[in-house]
Amino acid sequence: SRAISLNVSKCFPVELPSFAITNSHCCPPRPPPSKIIDFKDFASPNATLRVRKPAHMVDEEYIAKLEKGIALMKALPDDDPRNFIQQAKVHCAYCNGAYHLPHPFQNTKLNIHRSWFFFPFHRWYIYFFERILGSLLGDPNFALPFWNWDAVEGMQMPPYFANPNSSLYHKLRNPKHLPPQVVDLNYDPFDFNDDTPSHQQVSYNLAFMYKQMVLASTKELFMGSPFRLGDNPTPGIGSIEAAPHNTVHKWVGAADKPHQEDMGTFYTAARDPVFYPHHTNSDRLWGIWKKLGEGRKDYSDDPDWLDSDFYFYDENANFVRVKVRDCFDTKRLGYVYEDVDLPWLRTPP
Ligand code: C2O
Repeated sequence: SRAISLNVSKCFPVELPSFAITNSHCCPPRPPPSKIIDFKDFASPNATLRVRKPAHMVDEEYIAKLEKGIALMKALPDDDPRNFIQQAKVHCAYCNGAYHLPHPFQNTKLNIHRSWFFFPFHRWYIYFFERILGSLLGDPNFALPFWNWDAVEGMQMPPYFANPNSSLYHKLRNPKHLPPQVVDLNYDPFDFNDDTPSHQQVSYNLAFMYKQMVLASTKELFMGSPFRLGDNPTPGIGSIEAAPHNTVHKWVGAADKPHQEDMGTFYTAARDPVFYPHHTNSDRLWGIWKKLGEGRKDYSDDPDWLDSDFYFYDENANFVRVKVRDCFDTKRLGYVYEDVDLPWLRTPP
């Protein structure tokens, strides 16, 4: 088998980009061996599902609860693996080379972006983040919202993420891109001609979504390319990962920082709370893509993909090993997305 299985007991200092603005290392606290377990916590078929809703359609009460959950996560001790910054570091560790591949590929540093691991890794990552949030709130049914940037009403940062008194606020962002500025789903941070009128931007966005979802009809185009043991870890990026995923990261981050920190670069991205609704939306689009046409398949018949694994801390601070094969059915993971209109399906470029 050429599945990727990591030796996570060895965590190396990460490789930061040049001119990095924080010099943090990203390895999680080392787990006591007794706390390393295999994932088996599937939702029972008649359990209540957590329903992830569009961020622009939730009520005040929900927002207050989300704010409280994030505040509780931020208030955990610094070395608690469920702490908000620790969670951000989990993302950093998997992106910026903290884990190396097993012998004889020990000089290869893992990056779970730009390959077929983008969707499954982030699905698991968000899953554990949501469970931690639910447990801190004492509500196991609590679900993250999704930033519905592919719908017209969702094409701005959810306004409560920009309220300076909120735990969802984050300082290092582009002040020109705060609500109600319409997001540019195909944003280029080096294109300074930034004054497209809103209605125009909305139609560009819809046509762009059509291209990334409908025209990217093969698994290579949509999911990214296979990365097996012995390969280069970043063989090829999928359509949605490249944009809107990467582009919205850059669009949110501070334009005057070297890598559009915090959202615009891996080592700091998950320090901004808006990372999470951004990722639930990307995750949601994976499920939608598969249903868009007969015969759309991801790599679910490829054992190297299915048997690859990752490790995360759960809400009880257990260190849990998960496999790609266990994340396809979100109902087994206890959640679904609210069904909403897909306006881009009607807007071929
Ligand atoms: Cu791991 Cu949005 O990136």
